[in-house]
Amino acid sequence: MTKPIERILVTGALGQIGTELVAALRARYGTERVVATDVREAPQAFRESGPFHTLDVTDLAALEDVTTRYRIDTVFHLAAVLSATGEKDPVRCWEINMRGTMNVLRTGVARGMARILIPSSIAVWGKGVPSPAPQESALKPTTMYGVTKVAGELLGDYFVRRFNLDVRGLRYPGIISAETFPGGGTTDYAVAIYYDAVRYGRYTCFVREDTRLPMMYMPDCITAIIDLAEADFASLKHHCDFNVGSMSFSAGELAASIRRHIPDFTVEYKPDERQIIADSWPDEVDDSAAREEWGWRPRYDLEAMTADMLAKLREKHARGEI
Ligand code: SER
Repeated sequence: MTKPIERILVTGALGQIGTELVAALRARYGTERVVATDVREAPQAFRESGPFHTLDVTDLAALEDVTTRYRIDTVFHLAAVLSATGEKDPVRCWEINMRGTMNVLRTGVARGMARILIPSSIAVWGKGVPSPAPQESALKPTTMYGVTKVAGELLGDYFVRRFNLDVRGLRYPGIISAETFPGGGTTDYAVAIYYDAVRYGRYTCFVREDTRLPMMYMPDCITAIIDLAEADFASLKHHCDFNVGSMSFSAGELAASIRRHIPDFTVEYKPDERQIIADSWPDEVDDSAAREEWGWRPRYDLEAMTADMLAKLREKHARGEI
């Protein structure tokens, strides 16, 4: 049976997805019902916008303390080290991603929680994956981040079977947004290109022009996880590994879409070590299971996203924020 969502905790709340998810959850469920946490101290404006706690997800006692204090029944567990940062210190990536996930799942069982949401990623796949990447396929990631995401999916599914805990997750593609800059991912070029187009009219891209990856605009990213959280448990055949697609484009096509608004925009391509990671991920994904089981349907395509990103970043630029 699907239990109601009453009091929510978000980990990694100061990250790219966290900042916007917290705002969306507070608008939907009420500010006081959504406790934002992050290992970093929050800026004053964020602290004043609703309940906030510093929380290291690898600290089980601290996690138990905050979930007990606020009688939390639902966790959106976003705290993770991403792919490019993970390759710089793979042991730390494993430690934070796996211990964090295990701690959240253990606390979920101990407190009889209603729901745990744990995003996964296109990083679960490795070189040679068919395109579009099928829902059911061999998962052979080549990054430590990908290894932890595969293990996290399996762990979540295990907790569903073994402990009857309601755990759900989806494999996000690269996420593009104008609010908070992403940290340490391979798909960060698809965000940075907009910032530099607005600020400088030129961008040095760390992947090749023909690099094609699945991507998603933030409003769809937020809708996806909230819709999955609110789906009826009985309608789900999958749990922690839903493919979610939205759009797919090459770095060159992305630059061309920006050039339709900023005709003089130029891009130089200087691939670095992140090219190898990008090359190991699929171009696009088959998300028919998400569409069938919980009604997934993205709204934004590349053109609509580019128009919205540029409008938002031009405003920020005019205010001197970027
Ligand atoms: N955007 C992430 C990264 O690049 C993928 O999940 O690491």
